[in-house]
Amino acid sequence: MTVQTNEEADQIDEKLTEIFVQCEKDRSQLIPILQKVQETFGYLPKQAILAVSSHLEMTDAQIFGVASFYNHFRFTPLGKNPIQMCMGTACHMVGGGLVLEGLERALDIEVGGITEDKEFSLDRVACVGCCGLAPVMVIGEKIYPKMTSTKVDEVLVNLKIEIKEKTESEGGEQAAKKG
Ligand code: FES
Repeated sequence: MTVQTNEEADQIDEKLTEIFVQCEKDRSQLIPILQKVQETFGYLPKQAILAVSSHLEMTDAQIFGVASFYNHFRFTPLGKNPIQMCMGTACHMVGGGLVLEGLERALDIEVGGITEDKEFSLDRVACVGCCGLAPVMVIGEKIYPKMTSTKVDEVLVNLKIEIKEKTESEGGEQAAKKG
């Protein structure tokens, strides 16, 4: 569970106020407001759902119901390395679903979730525009073409090694600066 400090809660409130100022106070604005919230925070924080519910005079269950209808919205923050599995038609037809299942197993999270160490989050997305490379996985900005469920472990192991090396070299640089 994400533990939020008062300072973070105040920052969220401040940004929500900016979003509400830009949008009419009308229920027809629910989706555009939720989209702006997600663009701003990368997900829909509980605090934001409650604020939107009071802004539009709807219950939080109504807001949650609408938001969970769309795959696009997520309720947990993005990981440091957000993983997106394309589930557009071309990717779906050549085994995208199996790759997605492989990712869920390897990361031990479900779609829309985040790993305990906050390194990875997992989402399914619509066509990312390179159908010739299907099935396609995207991690951060990098495209992984022609994925299979067996390639998933290899990609994740390599990525974890890269992350570890990067963390160690950053730690070394900081120690050198202090020393
Ligand atoms: S359907 Fe996956 S890249 Fe187009």
